[in-house]
Formats: sequence, C-alpha cells, structure tokens
Amino acid sequence: MLEVENLMVFFENALALGGLNLTVKQGEIVGVVGSNSAGKTTLLNTLSGLINDMRTQAGRRGKERISVYGQIRYKGEDIIDWPTHQRVKQGIVLSRERHPIFPESSVLENLKIAGYRRSKREIRDQLTETFRIFPTLHPLGKRKAGFLSGGEQQMLALAMALMARPSLLLLDEPLLGLSPLMQTAVMAAVVHLKQFAGVTVIICEQYARPVLPVIDRGYVLENGMLTFSGTGSELISSPEINAAYFGSIQAPADRPGTQGTV
Ligand SMILES: Nc1ncnc2c1ncn2[C@@H]1O[C@H](COP(=O)(O)OP(=O)(O)OP(=O)(O)O)[C@@H](O)[C@H]1O
Ligand SMILES: [Mg+2]
Repeated sequence: MLEVENLMVFFENALALGGLNLTVKQGEIVGVVGSNSAGKTTLLNTLSGLINDMRTQAGRRGKERISVYGQIRYKGEDIIDWPTHQRVKQGIVLSRERHPIFPESSVLENLKIAGYRRSKREIRDQLTETFRIFPTLHPLGKRKAGFLSGGEQQMLALAMALMARPSLLLLDEPLLGLSPLMQTAVMAAVVHLKQFAGVTVIICEQYARPVLPVIDRGYVLENGMLTFSGTGSELISSPEINAAYFGSIQAPADRPGTQGTV
C-alpha cells in the first residue's frame, strides 16, 4: 500500500530524516519506535503532506528552508508532491501528537465535526461504526470533551480520525501522557480499527512496551535513520532494543520476583 524510498528531509542544512526505506502492506499495523527528536513527527508530517504546507509557510516567512527528497508511493502513485488535502481525500489521515479536540463541545459534536467532509447520512452510519469500535465513548456522547480523562480524550482523538474514513491512519504518539492501563486500552482500540474497519496503521511512539506486542511489523528510528526492522516479537527479543527501550524498567536479575512496573 505504501512504499517509501530513500526519503530525506532537511531543515535548512540539518538532516532530520536520512534516506528512509519503509513499506506498509494493506491491513498492517506498523510501529515506528524512536526516542525524542528521532524524527517520528517529521516522518508522519512528510507522509501526510503537512511538510509541504510547512515548507510553503517557511518560504513565505523567510524562515529556514525545508527540503524533501525521495519517493512515497501510495497505492502505486508517487504522492510526494501531493498537497495534504489530496492525500486526505485518498484516505491518508494524520492524528497528531496531542490531537486537538474541541473541549467546549460534546463528544458527539466533536465526532460530527471530524466527519465534516461527509453527508449527514454518512456521518450517521459512521457514528454507529465508530461507537462499535470505541464502545467506551458511547455513554459519554453528551459529555463536554474537555471533561474527559486523558485516556478518554485520546480515544476520542482516534475516533475523530476514524470519522474521516481513513485507509491509512498515521498516529503520532497516541500514548503520550497516558497511564499504562490507558496505553493498553488505546492500543486495543488501534487493533479494533484494523480488525473492524480494515484501517492500515502506522504508529510512531516512544513507548515500545505497549506497542510492540500489537504491531505486525516495526522499525526503530534513531537520529533520522531506521536502524532495525522486524516483526513485533523480533523487536521485543532483540538485545539492542531491549537495552535501549526496556533496560531501565526490567526486573533486576539480582532481585528475583521484582516486577517491571511498566
Ligand atoms: N520545523 C522544524 N525546524 C527545524 N528543525 C526541526 C523542525 N521540526 C523538527 N526539527 C528537527 O528535526 C529532528 C526530528 O524532530 P521530530 O520532531 O521529527 O522528532 P520526534 O521523533 O517527533 O521527537 P518527539 O518525540 O520529541 O516528538 C529534531 O532534531 C528536530 O529538532
Ligand atoms: Mg514528535
């Protein structure tokens, strides 16, 4: 469905993405794990087309030049020059870090706003589908979105992305700031998106632990380079990944019975 070849992004002369190659097959959940400044947001902005808008704005304001090179083939077409709205129409939808919701509006209103491109009937059908995938939101329909817990707000953000009927959903750190329990719940919702709505997902995250068991395949992103790829279980069992992502939270060997906390 998606083939990225030799993707490079520069902010002025600083390399943010250094020649990435990545493939995503229809129906997969693909994880990209990386720490702060690894390039996760830049990757998703480049796939969603947002980087083109940023480039235009930066050019207008005389700010640093943004350069993008390489190929992004989506369903067989090179989309690297396509604007964001054209990509959204073709089903590429980005849910950003701390995805904005409308705190003064109800959950239901937020969902309807997110489906603004659709007809009333389509929105009604989509709402039924959305509540099937996110049953916890159903009883909260009339509640002001600003009064939801962090985890519930994140569920709402995912549900809002679903209202745009994505084929390829790009999730930028959907677990940010959530408790381990809520992180697991959000990941379960991501699996439901795949299973019940047939959505293909790329999820960029710092938290490897809740993500790796759920993904079909994953990559590790470090300093703008993909340094490792494999299935979720290959990533979990790789000594490098373990050292980098689980090292500090695993039970120490000299204290048998101690449980990792996350
Ligand atoms: N608009 C910008 N202008 C200049 N440099 C940028 C810009 N956006 C990102 N960068 C740089 O590109 C690199 C990658 O940043 P990016 O935001 O993609 O990382 P990230 O993995 O999303 O990090 P985080 O986990 O903190 O969200 C960083 O070195 C960052 O400073
Ligand atoms: Mg980011």
